[in-house]
Amino acid sequence: MIFVLTGAGLSAESGLGTFRDEGGLWTQYDLSEVATPEGFAADPEKVLAFYNARRANADSATPNAAHTALARLSQQTQTALVTQNVDSLLEAAGARDVIHMHGQLDWALCAGCGARWDAPAVMQVSDPCPACAAKATRPDVVWFGEMPYHMDRIENALSAADLFVAIGTSGTVYPAAGFVEMARAYGIETLELNLEPSGGRFDDGLYGPATDIVPDWVDRVLTA
Ligand code: OAD
Repeated sequence: MIFVLTGAGLSAESGLGTFRDEGGLWTQYDLSEVATPEGFAADPEKVLAFYNARRANADSATPNAAHTALARLSQQTQTALVTQNVDSLLEAAGARDVIHMHGQLDWALCAGCGARWDAPAVMQVSDPCPACAAKATRPDVVWFGEMPYHMDRIENALSAADLFVAIGTSGTVYPAAGFVEMARAYGIETLELNLEPSGGRFDDGLYGPATDIVPDWVDRVLTA
């Protein structure tokens, strides 16, 4: 089984910004203001506006050749497809059973009762929760200081994998950044596909734009 971890570099060529590259989101916004529970408590309107803009951007984006290749991989071989991305471009490309460890822009979450529902294109602070009517609506994305989703499932999949592949992620945000070391501890082969080496301890790496290197790698895996 192949365990694939993807990051913002996968969607970069679909026009969605990465976080830490030149001009990236965290060079334009203060992450403590827009991606923490404290930032949301201090200024919910600002936080919803930030995610409304990201949702609009994601809604107008289309999957690129790397998303399509990973969808093919997930359809044709046993794959755990784990993403840190909050867009739905892997699903749009036809990937099955994508594990969104940092949540999804398409979903809204009630900070009061935990209910989830389809996020409207524009979320507003005054939107009541459809389950409990609390005006505590927030995007269903994981913020700094919060526990990523599906960690049990992810750790089970990682322990059962034969190959760990990280694609388009800088490896700076834990726990995802620690998966390569966990894979090594399990004796699993590790591979990085990225624009440039992230500095993580991988057995092997292929470097270049995701739309070039991911389809080539998937073709090799599926014809091996
Ligand atoms: P980063 O912005 O930290 O890293 C993006 C990575 O993609 C870098 O290693 C780039 O070199 C690489 N990259 C850029 N363009 C690429 C391309 N065309 N093809 C291939 N690789 C490319 O984004 P993430 O690692 O995804 O979390 O960031 C991890 C988490 O930090 C995000 O999920 C988000 C952010 O804060 C939360 O908001 C909780």
